[in-house]
Amino acid sequence: MKIKKAVIPAAGFGTRFLPITKVMSKELLPIIDRPAIEYVVKEAIDAGICEILLIISPHKKEVLDYFKANKILEEFLIEKNNTEGLKLIREYNDIKINYVIQYEQLGLGHAVLHAKDFVGEEPFAVLLGDDLFYGENKPAIKELIEVFSQYDSHILGTMTVSDEETIKYGIADPILNQKGPVYELKGFVEKPKPEVAPSRSAACGRYILKPIIFKYLETQTRGVGGEIQLTDAILNSTKETKLYSYDIKAKRYDIGSKDGYLKAIVEFALRRDDLRDKMLKIIDENSN
Ligand code: G1P
Repeated sequence: MKIKKAVIPAAGFGTRFLPITKVMSKELLPIIDRPAIEYVVKEAIDAGICEILLIISPHKKEVLDYFKANKILEEFLIEKNNTEGLKLIREYNDIKINYVIQYEQLGLGHAVLHAKDFVGEEPFAVLLGDDLFYGENKPAIKELIEVFSQYDSHILGTMTVSDEETIKYGIADPILNQKGPVYELKGFVEKPKPEVAPSRSAACGRYILKPIIFKYLETQTRGVGGEIQLTDAILNSTKETKLYSYDIKAKRYDIGSKDGYLKAIVEFALRRDDLRDKMLKIIDENSN
């Protein structure tokens, strides 16, 4: 079955980026000249997904504005004959971004539950905005879609983390003696301490889920951090579907952390023809 729908939770307060997130959504923090959320939306579109749902909090309507036409600015640019600028601000005019408002922030599982009506009876993609990917050959979510087409089960995008990092991620528990990059899992645990973590294979913000997940999200009790965890509902739903992990090849940036955010800006600049030499010069000037 084709994956046509993507769900992008974007309702968090962004406390790791205070004070700027006092007045603006963390999803709009720029990676150079485009907001972080645009890279995630584009990843889905480039993977052939045509229906997108943003899950936002009531005070984040500005995230939606970014994807809407801005007629006043368009008129100004037309008057100034700025065709280049006009082209840039019209890129998303024809793309419909759906949204649903999450009034309470009770966790990632609670956020994804808000997508139930939008998703209906189809498998769907989930992309978390704190995780940005750069795929040399294809978008990260496309890698997962291809795995899904073979396994028809929940697929978690994973990466290897260090011992100290298991407490930050959902950690996969693969059945032993398998050859990757796809692994069948017997468990999945949210943010375990390294001594009890079943592996070092961590969920990194990309999922393909079957709609059976909603049945389990609806009754999911609170887990780690007092939050309704997507991880727990995924594990519970394995009574009815298999669960696989897949090691994503695309490069990941954790832009929910300051060092990951800076790294994304530097490396995305280095990949741009208009900025590469300038960025190399800045790095060079500051290297001694
Ligand atoms: C969430 C998920 C976690 C996953 C992580 C990836 O955690 O709950 O399982 O590994 O995203 O970034 P959060 O970063 O929202 O605490």
